[in-house]
Amino acid sequence: MNLDIRNNTLYFGGINTVELAKKYNTPLYIIDEGILTDKIRDLKENFLNKYDNVKVLYASKAFLNTAICKIIKKEGIGLDVVSKGELYTALNANMNADDIIFHGNNKSIDELKMAIDNNISRIIVDSMDELEDIIYLTNKLKKTTNIMFRITPDVRGKTHDYISTGQKDSKFGIPLESIIQACKIAIDSEYINLKGLHFHTGSQLFSNESHLKALRVAFSIIEDLKDETKYTIEELNVGGGFGVFYSDDDTEMDFTHFTDEIMELCEELAKKINIKRPKIMIEPGRWIISKAGITLYEIGNIKDIKGIRKYASVDGGITDNIRPALYNASYTCMISNKADEESIEKVTICGKCCESGDVIIKDAKLPKIEKGDILTVFSTGAYNESMSSNYNKLLRPAVVMLKDSKDYLIKRREELKDLVSRDLVPEFLQNI
Ligand code: LLP
Repeated sequence: MNLDIRNNTLYFGGINTVELAKKYNTPLYIIDEGILTDKIRDLKENFLNKYDNVKVLYASKAFLNTAICKIIKKEGIGLDVVSKGELYTALNANMNADDIIFHGNNKSIDELKMAIDNNISRIIVDSMDELEDIIYLTNKLKKTTNIMFRITPDVRGKTHDYISTGQKDSKFGIPLESIIQACKIAIDSEYINLKGLHFHTGSQLFSNESHLKALRVAFSIIEDLKDETKYTIEELNVGGGFGVFYSDDDTEMDFTHFTDEIMELCEELAKKINIKRPKIMIEPGRWIISKAGITLYEIGNIKDIKGIRKYASVDGGITDNIRPALYNASYTCMISNKADEESIEKVTICGKCCESGDVIIKDAKLPKIEKGDILTVFSTGAYNESMSSNYNKLLRPAVVMLKDSKDYLIKRREELKDLVSRDLVPEFLQNI
């Protein structure tokens, strides 16, 4: 993971993490460009170059920033966005519209118009209401738009309930009973080009069982549509969700574990219904960026409740990593300045927010912890910065990128004045 220990100090990407903490202050997000590009190259080797007619789109909700977009562009993969904010960030970073697809279960007219105006390669239509909006807009603009339909495959991903999305009782996707009708409406619409179907069954999955089940559902829709209308679906997007290692509760998997069986089943099902295998798209987010990220904190106050628990507070918390509080997610950590020392005590790492649930790691095994120590939490690249907040008016951390043993600031730390920069004072309060 690009980690090494020199003189009792943890190095990440060849750089002393204690020095990084000193230089940029804490909490600090760090992204190692080498790990990130290795992950993308792994995808190329084991998916893009292994199969023909396939595409990878990085799920940008995991972590999006201008520098990250440029790496995605440089590495030649596509991007999935879910809001005009993500789309703006991508376009502003010079991503090609051709490499962007647009998701979301409640896209506004404004967002749809922005996608159509900018020739975004595919809009993933999530509902019948959205289909109506797109028909209205494309007719008005007289502009042909490529769409895919997100289906609700009625398949539950084996993961935390909050990140399981394929089950029938889900806000995402078009229910199976309406999908053929949706396709027929799209086929008959003058300015809509129906390219394919999409599903995403959940996130942080270790088995591909839900992908395989959902594939069978998707191919049966493709078959029904072909029988009823002679229309052949050309593309199938099977979403993301490929699980990563955070702690000993998780098992590290090769990427081929997820995709080989998916590709094999696609070939088999396509053959069965006598069509050319559709173009297969995948949308990994976490799998691409999670491991490339670490977070550095400084240890503050320590409280030892004899016989109960020892707490060590850090200078961040749920504001920079809400995942433990939200999904009971577990992480591993090390004390950067005691990297060679033996773990002798159990310490619960908590944040500084006014919430008892503001815990980052429960009962971490660590060397003797002291105020001023620098703590590194691993695998924080995905869904940490992107889900960060200003709760308790904490300042969101800076992000530093490491490449070839050099460090580059890719997002500045928030400043106090940022906290009030959007505040306005109504006239009746101005003299106070
Ligand atoms: N495609 C679609 C349509 C999605 O909704 C998602 C994630 C992905 C791809 C990428 O999933 P990934 O490969 O990263 O698992 N905040 C949660 C995760 C929410 C995921 C939402 N959708 C977490 O921190 O675990």
